[in-house]
Amino acid sequence: MPADLTDLTSAGLELSISGSVATVTLARPDRRNAMTPSMWHGLARIGASIPDDVRVVVVRGSGPSFCAGIDLRMFSAEGVPGEEGNPSPADPRFDDSTAGFQAGYTWLRNPAFVSIAAVQGHAIGAGFQLALSCDLRVLADNAKLCMKEPALGLVPDLTGTKPLVDIVGLARAIELCLTARTVDAHEAVQLRLAELVVSLPELDGAVADLTAALLSTDAAAARATKALLAGAPRNTLEQQAAAERAAQATLLRARQAR
Ligand code: ACO
Repeated sequence: MPADLTDLTSAGLELSISGSVATVTLARPDRRNAMTPSMWHGLARIGASIPDDVRVVVVRGSGPSFCAGIDLRMFSAEGVPGEEGNPSPADPRFDDSTAGFQAGYTWLRNPAFVSIAAVQGHAIGAGFQLALSCDLRVLADNAKLCMKEPALGLVPDLTGTKPLVDIVGLARAIELCLTARTVDAHEAVQLRLAELVVSLPELDGAVADLTAALLSTDAAAARATKALLAGAPRNTLEQQAAAERAAQATLLRARQAR
């Protein structure tokens, strides 16, 4: 385990790395894994230090909920003991501070690995955005997804708006966010917010099976293909065709050099 990743407990996180699979667990079940700045910074630290040979990252929550979103005590005058308060927009560091929180999410798009959210129970607000930051979502049939921020007078600002629009389309994203309604597992499949829904006892096994299937392909080809696919939405067909040729040449050259 890299030195940077040894003390995550105080941030409410656990990390285990087994071969090429890293499992990140939100580990504050008594608060339904509610998130704080130290948890976001801890996630960013994991992202910055994850070993190069990791090919699958599983993000899961302990206890009945995947994640109940931001720790609501952050909005109280007392705040959360030991945590920095919510940055004031009047503070010149507001933008940097929020960017630091977002760094806890953005690393999950790294083409070096495939990220999988294993979601049971509630994924609300910041927690829903964490699930959206993963490449794939496997849901237990009791999963409940909700973009709660607008109901609390906030915008979702933890990098969830882009994947939400990419996945469900603009109209449905507007409807989901501006009503702050809850999507159950059945509807999540229809909206393509879940790749797979299984019963709660089957969740870990389904994620393990998916992980094994992902590891069955060539590592370099998998990484290059994820990068290629991730770039596709912003490319024209011609640009994407050129990107495919370039990626293939890079991949084959690297293989010949070995
Ligand atoms: N922040 C702080 N504490 C929380 C949070 C939270 N977001 N969510 C749950 N908890 C605490 C509860 O206060 C409770 O503490 P207690 O045992 O000391 O009373 C404990 O976790 C268990 O919560 P319950 O509500 O009893 O658990 P239940 O399983 O019945 O409900 C649920 C879970 C649906 C997640 C509910 O707790 C809830 O609605 N939480 C708030 C969700 C929310 O609005 N999050 C903010 C979204 S916006 C954003 O993330 C930016």
